[in-house]
Amino acid sequence: MVRTSIFVTALAIASTAFAQQTCDLNTKCPEEAPCCSQYGQCGVGAYCLGGCDPRSSFSLDSCTPEPVCQSKTYDFTSMDRITSKTKYLGDASKTDWVMDGDAVIYDNNVLLTMAPGTVGTLLASSTYMWYGNVKATFKTSRGAGVVTAFILLSDVKDEIDYEFVGAALDTAQSNYYFQGIPDYNNELNISLSDTFENYHTYEIDWTPDSITWSVDGQVGRVKQRTDTWNATSNQWMFPQTPARVQLSLWPGGLASNGQGTIDWAGGLVDWNSPLMTNGYYYATFESVTISCYNATSSLGTNTGVSYTYDNAAGTNNTVVAGDKPTVLKSLLATGTNISSKGSSSKSASSTKPSATVQSIPGLTGAGPGADPHAGGDSSSSSSSSSSSSSDSSSSSTQSASGSSSTDGSTSGFSQGGSNSGSSSSSSHSSSGADKLGATQEKVLQGSLFAGIVAMVAMVVL
Ligand SMILES: *[C@@H]1O[C@H](CO)[C@@H](O)[C@H](O)[C@H]1NC(C)=O
Ligand SMILES: *[C@@H]1O[C@H](CO)[C@@H](O)[C@H](O)[C@H]1NC(C)=O
Ligand SMILES: *[C@@H]1O[C@H](CO)[C@@H](O)[C@H](O)[C@H]1NC(C)=O
Ligand SMILES: *[C@@H]1O[C@H](CO)[C@@H](O)[C@H](O)[C@H]1NC(C)=O
Ligand SMILES: *[C@@H]1O[C@H](CO)[C@@H](O)[C@H](O)[C@H]1NC(C)=O
Repeated sequence: MVRTSIFVTALAIASTAFAQQTCDLNTKCPEEAPCCSQYGQCGVGAYCLGGCDPRSSFSLDSCTPEPVCQSKTYDFTSMDRITSKTKYLGDASKTDWVMDGDAVIYDNNVLLTMAPGTVGTLLASSTYMWYGNVKATFKTSRGAGVVTAFILLSDVKDEIDYEFVGAALDTAQSNYYFQGIPDYNNELNISLSDTFENYHTYEIDWTPDSITWSVDGQVGRVKQRTDTWNATSNQWMFPQTPARVQLSLWPGGLASNGQGTIDWAGGLVDWNSPLMTNGYYYATFESVTISCYNATSSLGTNTGVSYTYDNAAGTNNTVVAGDKPTVLKSLLATGTNISSKGSSSKSASSTKPSATVQSIPGLTGAGPGADPHAGGDSSSSSSSSSSSSSDSSSSSTQSASGSSSTDGSTSGFSQGGSNSGSSSSSSHSSSGADKLGATQEKVLQGSLFAGIVAMVAMVVL
């Protein structure tokens, strides 16, 4: 979780002209690449959609307004309403889940897959819940280092988690964070029968006053807001802002991750494991039901079109429920000008401005599918991915210091590792968020899979 400040650093873009700008609370994005992605990198287009942190972006309106909560049951019988992050522009009326990685429909379930050379798969809901109830019925993956997660994550990084380590199939780890601030004392285990063999229904009931984690209808944990007061900062350290539902499978046990993360995840992932099927690890999601909060005041309301923030404090009283549109005209637009086609890049010095600004976290420049309007060089994405192995030397040093990244990949997603070296190795960064967001296209060049081009790149091609 130490994400914003520390973890992303790495991700240097190898061998390309793109200088990927990183962002955090102290370093906001520049005007020409105003949106700070969930993984702490600046760009336009998809960088401004789900996960864009208004506090670290150029201005509060850089991020695209967040589609408001919708009560609905999602069963995973087809890919029809699951859209790749390279295609999604913010229209939640057409897309239920935004996909990063590789999900496949199997037997009326969706399998989140994790193959060698990838950092797994993430499905994020297109809509945001501002309190409410969400249930997910699924079977986890298994194996050392393999982590399955079902979380709520807001754009200012409030977070409510269920996480499952593949080496401890009798345990669901519950957790929460306020604005992404690391606190390793909030984790609590819930015991249950084998999570790989059995479907369980995991529920999060979230109100302004409490969070209740229940498994199969039985309450496993309750956290009261009143127990979270911080007298120093004078605020409740309690999740309180609209959040997306995220389902994910990711490798906590990568050699490039911090030791604390690897230990927490139960050791290194075995990429030749008999536990894999069809060449990948997988988690099996049967259904998700979102029930929006029945607000009696403006707090938690879901009657408008979208949520925005009017103050960088990012607390519940800074959330504005209104009617601002959520759909970008192109992947070169931003929340400030959702109809922009990006032609005017006053400040860009390059003669090919469209190629200098990142538009999809995890892809280098305007990759295939990234930017239908700009005509940038579409081959850049895949080629730079593979060529990034050229900087592998830099990546081989890091493992001890988590701050640097681990793999000089071009990914915007820092997946597993993130745990900063500074945090002692005893703590793992357990937020599903930092690790997960990752993106398939990531090249795990460090020790294990030098030169393997990430999956997204391939999928996109
Ligand atoms: C909101 O009200 C509806 C209708 O009474 C109910 O079915 C639903 O469970 C409620 N949602 C929450 C989150 O309490
Ligand atoms: C929860 O369970 C995991 C896996 O068994 C264990 O490593 C961890 O220490 C437990 N956490 C707590 C707070 O008991
Ligand atoms: C309370 O807030 C202060 C100031 O923001 C922070 O340094 C401290 O870590 C917080 N306490 C806890 C328990 O998180
Ligand atoms: C959210 O705001 C309301 C009033 O607008 C306040 O009473 C409540 O304590 C706040 N909740 C949190 C978690 O900050
Ligand atoms: C938004 O972008 C469009 C198309 O690029 C441009 O014509 C328009 O002037 C921009 N609006 C603002 C307010 O910048």
